[in-house]
Amino acid sequence: MGDLASRRFLVTGGAGFIGSNFARMLLQQGAERVVVFDKLTYAGNPANLHDLTAFPAYQFVQGDICDAAAVDKALDGCEVIVNFAAESHVDRSLLSAGEFIQTNILGTQVLLDAAVRAGVERFVQVSTDEVYGDVAEGYSREDDPLRPRSPYSASKAGAELMVNAYVETYGLNAIITRGSNTYGPYQFPEKLIPLMITNVFESLPLPVYGDGQQARDWLYVLDHCRGILVAMERGEAGSVFNIGGGNERRNLDVILTLLDLMDGPRELITHVEDRLGHDRRYALATDRLQALGWRPETSFEAGLRETVDWYRAHSGWWRPLKEGRFTAYYEQNYGTRARLTADSSDA
Ligand code: NAD
Ligand code: TYD
Repeated sequence: MGDLASRRFLVTGGAGFIGSNFARMLLQQGAERVVVFDKLTYAGNPANLHDLTAFPAYQFVQGDICDAAAVDKALDGCEVIVNFAAESHVDRSLLSAGEFIQTNILGTQVLLDAAVRAGVERFVQVSTDEVYGDVAEGYSREDDPLRPRSPYSASKAGAELMVNAYVETYGLNAIITRGSNTYGPYQFPEKLIPLMITNVFESLPLPVYGDGQQARDWLYVLDHCRGILVAMERGEAGSVFNIGGGNERRNLDVILTLLDLMDGPRELITHVEDRLGHDRRYALATDRLQALGWRPETSFEAGLRETVDWYRAHSGWWRPLKEGRFTAYYEQNYGTRARLTADSSDA
């Protein structure tokens, strides 16, 4: 792919958690143009991009990836598309799956059409390890079958299949990255780590789904962004790259580590009804990306410390996100669980 400094990027979903960190990294590394294109759903937040306005190469466009005309306009002059735009939360996909199909599958297909029309040099589809489904033992490899088990992961797998179709049919120069559970600054406080950190600050219960023994492979957001960059620059067209932090931890252990770090009381831990169809474990083999020179650089303990410090210093960022419409989601998600728990104990 060559030198980033001479490249012009369209970063879709760039006002979200990983996309905003990625756009910042591109600008810091001297990209010629970075157009962030984002619908600004509940998860998209202009505050994630506040410091980027200092870069003349940066531009923000509000728009929906399902809107072909808006995509064509924003894409004008760009050579590379990096697609982060998605509905990204499993629990919300259990409450309402329609938006996941719309944005994650249809939106990706609209972007792919636009990429072919514009003749972009490279298309990067940011996907997830959840497409492999539950992995009882061993480590998922890029050629393993896709066995998604939630509406979220099924929609991400559907998007991947569309990317493959455009590679085969139109010769699109696309790659796919499958990142593991990511954490760090600017993550919306509905996901496990920022929810637990901010609940400790607010002395709220820490809701653990089921027995809390589910395992995830945690990846610091800047390691994830660096992995996408390496795959984008050095990956062969049509290939897939796992990006995992190599930090497999059980949920309850993550929470206990956080409580230790934050000096929080263990009494806040509250077991609630398990997530429907909850995947017990994800784990990735990452030798393919490591062969291109990438390594995760942040230990889980150091990354968690940085993240706790960031949320401590940025309560003005996350407090407003936990009010208003978030309260309705929280009631619906956790209220349902509380009722389910009560029903099952009645039975
Ligand atoms: P996020 O929810 O924080 O951000 C998603 C962004 O997409 C938001 O800014 C939102 O406004 C935008 N968006 C949603 N629908 C859109 C649409 N129709 N048009 C334009 N923009 C739209 O998500 P995230 O955690 O930053 O994840 C980014 C990507 O990485 C997603 O594709 C996700 O599947 C993938 N991923 C996430 C993780 C993780 O642990 N967070 C791990 C692996 C892969
Ligand atoms: P999450 O951050 O939603 O990521 P994903 O579902 O994509 O892995 O959840 C991480 C793990 O934490 C998952 O096993 C579900 C669990 N979890 C809880 O136990 N309690 C919670 O309140 C949340 C949000 C997640």
